[in-house]
Amino acid sequence: MSVDFSGRWAWADVHTGLIQHNVAIIAERVAPAQIWAVVKANAYGHGAIPVAHAALAAGATGLCVAIVDEGVALRRAGITAPILLLSEQPAEMAEFIVGYQLTPTITTTRGAAVIGNVAAQQNRTVPVHIKVDTGMHRVGVAPEELRQLVSYMGSQPSLTVEGVYTHFAVADEPSHPANARQLATFNHVIADLATIGVNPPLIHAANSAAALANPDARFNMVRLGIAMYGLQPGPGVADLCAGLIPAMALKGRVSAVRWVKAGEGVSYGLRKPLAADSLIATVPIGYADGVPRVLGGTNIQVLLNGVPRSFAGTVTMDQVMLDCEQDSMVTVGDEVVFIGRQGEHMVTADQWAEAVGTIGYEITCGIGARVFRRYQ
Ligand SMILES: Cc1ncc(COP(=O)(O)O)c(C=O)c1O
Repeated sequence: MSVDFSGRWAWADVHTGLIQHNVAIIAERVAPAQIWAVVKANAYGHGAIPVAHAALAAGATGLCVAIVDEGVALRRAGITAPILLLSEQPAEMAEFIVGYQLTPTITTTRGAAVIGNVAAQQNRTVPVHIKVDTGMHRVGVAPEELRQLVSYMGSQPSLTVEGVYTHFAVADEPSHPANARQLATFNHVIADLATIGVNPPLIHAANSAAALANPDARFNMVRLGIAMYGLQPGPGVADLCAGLIPAMALKGRVSAVRWVKAGEGVSYGLRKPLAADSLIATVPIGYADGVPRVLGGTNIQVLLNGVPRSFAGTVTMDQVMLDCEQDSMVTVGDEVVFIGRQGEHMVTADQWAEAVGTIGYEITCGIGARVFRRYQ
C-alpha cells in the first residue's frame, strides 16, 4: 500500500518541463556538442528516471551516472540511451555493466582486463571511455601512462575506445589558471592519441560550468549536471546561468500551531527566546529530509501564506518550527514553501547553500528519500 501525495506533510515538486527548458537552452549554447545528462545521485535529488526521460526528450543523447545500480535502474525503466559510468567500478560489477550495456569508464589496465574478460565471455563488444587525470587528481589515468593503457586495450578485442575525457577541478572559477593548464594537457593527450591512430568519436571535458564558460572545453560532448537542474555551478559563473530555472521546489504543510509567550524558547536548546508572544507553526520536515540542522540558526526564511518566516529554533530530525509572529491567520494545513516560489517571494537551494556554507548540489542531493517527489 502506498500513501499518495495528499497524505504527505512534506513533498518536492519537480517540474520536468523546466528540466527540458534548461537542457534546451544549454543545448543551443553548446551546439554542435552533444549533451550527456548527469543523473547520478537520483538526478541530484530530483529523481533519476523522470529527469532522464526529460533530458533525453529535450535533446540530450546520453546519460552519466556514478554507480552501477543507478545505471541498472535506468535500464530497468526502459531507457535505451547510452549510460556512462563516471569512474571504474568494483570488479564484481563487471557482469552487470556488460549485461545491462552500461558504458564503463576505464582508468587502469586492471579495469580494462575485468571488463574485457566479461565482455569476451558474454560475446559482446563494449564501448568504453578512458578518463585522463589532467590535474584534478581524483580518478583517471596519468597522461604519461595513457599510451600504455591504450596499447593494453588494443589487446582486448572485446573493447572499443568510444570516448576519451577529463574533468576540471575549478571550472566554476573560469579565470583560474588550472583550467587552461588542464585544457592544454588534455589537448596534448588527444593529439598524442591521434599520432598512434586512436581517434575516439567522443571527446569530452566540460561539466556545466566549463560548458557555459569556455567554448574550447566543449569538444563534441558535454556532461551536463547542475545547470540542467536550474542551479548555478558557483558564484563565478552565475551570470552565465541567466535563463535557467530551478526545477525543484520543496514544500510542506503546517501540522500544528500554538501561541508561545515572549521570553520562551522553541525547539531543542531553547536557543532563541521570543521577543514577543508569537504564533509558532510546526511543519513535519527536518534534517532527516535534507533541511540542514544549522539552517535554523541562519537568516534563511521560508514562505507561509506569502510571507517570509524565520525558523523559531533548531531544526529537528523530523520537524521544524516557524515564527509567525502575530499572524493569527496561520492554521493547520497551510502550505509552506521551503525552496521555491510563493506569491512574490522566492527561496532557492543556492541561498540555503550560501547560508550554511555549502553548494546547491549538496542541498538538492540531501533532500531525503522520504520526501515524496511529485512530478509536473
Ligand atoms: C565526472 C563528472 N562529470 C560531470 C559532472 C557534472 O558536473 P556539474 O553538475 O557541475 O555539471 C560531474 C559531477 O560532479 C562529474 O563528477
